[in-house]
Amino acid sequence: MPTALRHCIRNTPPGSQRESLKTLFNVLKLQYKLASVCGKHLRRLGRGLGLRTNLPSDVLRERIEKVYQQRADLRPLMTRESTYWWFRHDTRPLKYPHIDLEKFSFDARAVLSRYTGLNVDDLLTTWSVDGSIVLSGLFDWWWQSEDVIAVVHEEFEMYHHHLQSLKRRNDSGWLRNMFHSLVQQLMRQDPVYYAVHCALRPDHAWRLVSYPYYTRDACPDDSTLPRHIDLDVSHWMETGEGDNMIQGGLSIDDEDDSSTTEVLLGMHSHLKAWWKLVEERGLGGNGPNSHVTDQMYTEEDMARFECQWTSQPCKAGDVRFMSALLPHGGTGPATKRQRTLFPCFVAVADDHQKLDIEGSGTWADVAAAHRDLIRVLHLPSGDAPVHATLPIRFPPAAELMDLSALSDALVGRRRWTSPAVIWERNVVLGDDDDAALAFVQGWRKNAIKNLLITWDLIRYAERAFFGENSYFYHRDRKSEDFSMAG
Ligand SMILES: [Fe+2]
Repeated sequence: MPTALRHCIRNTPPGSQRESLKTLFNVLKLQYKLASVCGKHLRRLGRGLGLRTNLPSDVLRERIEKVYQQRADLRPLMTRESTYWWFRHDTRPLKYPHIDLEKFSFDARAVLSRYTGLNVDDLLTTWSVDGSIVLSGLFDWWWQSEDVIAVVHEEFEMYHHHLQSLKRRNDSGWLRNMFHSLVQQLMRQDPVYYAVHCALRPDHAWRLVSYPYYTRDACPDDSTLPRHIDLDVSHWMETGEGDNMIQGGLSIDDEDDSSTTEVLLGMHSHLKAWWKLVEERGLGGNGPNSHVTDQMYTEEDMARFECQWTSQPCKAGDVRFMSALLPHGGTGPATKRQRTLFPCFVAVADDHQKLDIEGSGTWADVAAAHRDLIRVLHLPSGDAPVHATLPIRFPPAAELMDLSALSDALVGRRRWTSPAVIWERNVVLGDDDDAALAFVQGWRKNAIKNLLITWDLIRYAERAFFGENSYFYHRDRKSEDFSMAG
């Protein structure tokens, strides 16, 4: 055992878990291996960390390594029943260990069947082969309520009224100032969207949070969204990060073949092989959000992989689910208005901080953005939110609150460890169809009520903040002029 290592452990103040963690960090940072620490010093280190040490050395080493991995927050290790007994009673914060209610699995097929009403075999075959699927009418309930759809249309107009014009730039129809609108909040907190997303994710992760992404409102004279992939493919090839991520969004307008998204269907199964060819051609590039040119995906590639650029038009109320491994872009030139809301759900890791992709921020960053109604500094891909023009909160924006505990978790207002959230998760993803559908029905009724109350507040606030520049001030003036002219 190296002398420096022995000194490092021996000089740690006894009884201080914090100091022992620092020592452990130094031991591993100095590139020693725990295997080179003798049994006597291993026990000394373990005692400092609060561990029981009357164990074989190899078992103790494994536990110390686990403590190192979890060093950011040792509380779960010290309280959950699977690891509670590793620690001495004087270092455990609870008298009894608690059962880990976060360990949870669900029947994805039953969830898909319940909420889509489709043949699950067909649905899953399409999803697996194409990597992209449009689920019809998942949000028809918005259109079944005149009140909800009126808010949708009016709120888009309000944000348009306040959009700083960027026509000099190629803005591809992004509504760059709209990322905490009421209707986006309503979509992000929707239990059915959540459940279907969980069921389609390859890893069936259920601890999700929504990134506050901006909206798209493409009009006929807007430039087309270029073909691209929202992933750092080289990084994905090394780490697999992004494997489970799903993109797509909720359509507000009926699309057609010339005003929709086109997707390179099936490419998720060939991405590695194709990207190697792209790199051999010197066109790979680095970083997320690579444009996909005809030189990158050639006619020969098309013949080899048999993946075609395919339009996938959605009707109003439909939702497109698309693997993040698929290149996609806009068709064009657009012939009609095309509005889309993006939930950008990502999975939250066991530590309740890490998200799907390293470098895309943390749960705490996303939660703070929802709390303050501001943008995040990263997108789910790790890219900067280059399309967002509003670096501050839009003054009249208001929180859509009190929809449910599960809804709160989807926007980072509550942790997924909250008993209320766990209970609702069990209902929404559980086996009891009647209970789940009753929950959804009650949720929608309450959501509409809260939406309308909050919409009144926003209308009032928008006039108060902007006076004669207010959208509603101008709208009312227009209708007065109209009635006087009549
Ligand atoms: Fe994209």
